Amino acid sequence: MDRLIIDGGRPLTGTIPISGAKNAALALLAGSLLASEPTVLRNVPRLVDIHVMTEVLASLGMKVDATVDGALRLDASSLTDFTTPYDLVTRMRASFFVLGPVLARLGQARIPLPGGCAIGSRPVDLHLKGLRSLGAKVTIEHGYVEASADQLVGAPVYLDYPSVGATETIMMAATLADGTTTIDNCAQEPEITDLAEFLIAMGARVEGAGTEQITIHGRPRLEGADFTCIPDRVEAGTFLIAGAITGGDLTLTGVRPEHLAALIGKLQEMGAILTAPDGDVLRIQAPERLKAADVRTMPFPGFPTDLQAQIMALLAVSEGTSVISETVFENRFLHVDELLRMGANIKTEGNVAVVQGVDRLSGAEVRATDLRAGAALVLSGLAARGHTIISGVHHIDRGYEDLERKLVAVGAAIGRTQVEGQASDPAAQVPGLTR
Ligand code: EPZ
Repeated sequence: MDRLIIDGGRPLTGTIPISGAKNAALALLAGSLLASEPTVLRNVPRLVDIHVMTEVLASLGMKVDATVDGALRLDASSLTDFTTPYDLVTRMRASFFVLGPVLARLGQARIPLPGGCAIGSRPVDLHLKGLRSLGAKVTIEHGYVEASADQLVGAPVYLDYPSVGATETIMMAATLADGTTTIDNCAQEPEITDLAEFLIAMGARVEGAGTEQITIHGRPRLEGADFTCIPDRVEAGTFLIAGAITGGDLTLTGVRPEHLAALIGKLQEMGAILTAPDGDVLRIQAPERLKAADVRTMPFPGFPTDLQAQIMALLAVSEGTSVISETVFENRFLHVDELLRMGANIKTEGNVAVVQGVDRLSGAEVRATDLRAGAALVLSGLAARGHTIISGVHHIDRGYEDLERKLVAVGAAIGRTQVEGQASDPAAQVPGLTR
């Protein structure tokens, strides 16, 4: 199993290009099922999750090809199946996003009910409630969601919680419904707006994306489109925090600063200097040590839950006491135990963590339990004294394209080993890591 080895304590300086957004690309890939003609998606990151999603699309009869300039060409003009294999959905729960489009295109869908994951039980009741509102018959049989509708009919839908996935499911299904659908209390994340713009490019009529109400006027069919995915705000936020935690000076390119307002404000409150010298460029200059601050995760435009683990790593070495409230997921503190192994001083009570900043963390062997927890361990390793050895790297590979290469380019001493079992001195396996 791969492991990452980091020799910490080096300020990161230089420029990092930001990749396409995993969570936008996954929704766009599902949305491409709605088109009766080929679509082209650009700036799709090369990640394990994306690969799994293309396997799901292929299992439905979608033709998926890479274009000469690295884009994805997707042809859903003749889908051959309305069901996907259980093992694909267990490998990547966002595969479930194909439910709405398949139902809308074929009048029926049989998609495995996704299980929970490390960070929570991840129910899909709001997705199913939305589809029922559009007239679908939806049952759960033998672990599968069975949905059918001769013709979906537009209707008003109220979401009890502004779920990103449920908003996407209902938006996509509603584009081929007969009549108008309104989604109230919908998610307002940039990924929602990106999906809406893709649907509009395919000929759908969608209004209000990015606000608390989205209106979709259904059409009989959608055409092809050539569309570019937004940059990944969570990757960008992770690298901003890398600059902060190492007291460095990092410039991110190909980024949308307006997608990161909550994190930018928090880092400035903590004492970092952030500037946007150009429309799609963000620069962070950080002092040796930042000041503590409180963080409460909320749906967009609030502080993103997907950056909670990463900012906790930073707060663990900031000056003072911070209180972190995780209001979105019920079990998203799995990184705490690993940070404690590195010398952090953190106490949790339910969904609240109290972080007492320490001068420095010390390198240790730690395990990534989920994608963003793994990112937090990389950040801690970059700042810690000595070597940090991270196992469970497959979690990190799901969401960060070329992570080591991007970090080495700005001065990090990080490498990957494929050592089976316990190597006597794993750091010796990594070129460029000083003793
Ligand atoms: C998306 O997950 C993202 N994943 C997550 O990113 C992100 O953390 C999350 O949105 C919140 O921003 C993708 O886009 C692929 P939700 P999603 O539905 O859609 C509850 C990462 O690290 N809920 O907004 O599953 C749910 O239990 C991943 O990149 C219901 O109760 O998130 C949770 O408490 C992790 N019923 C809350 O809503 C439902 O039917 C937010 O979930 C749906 C959700």
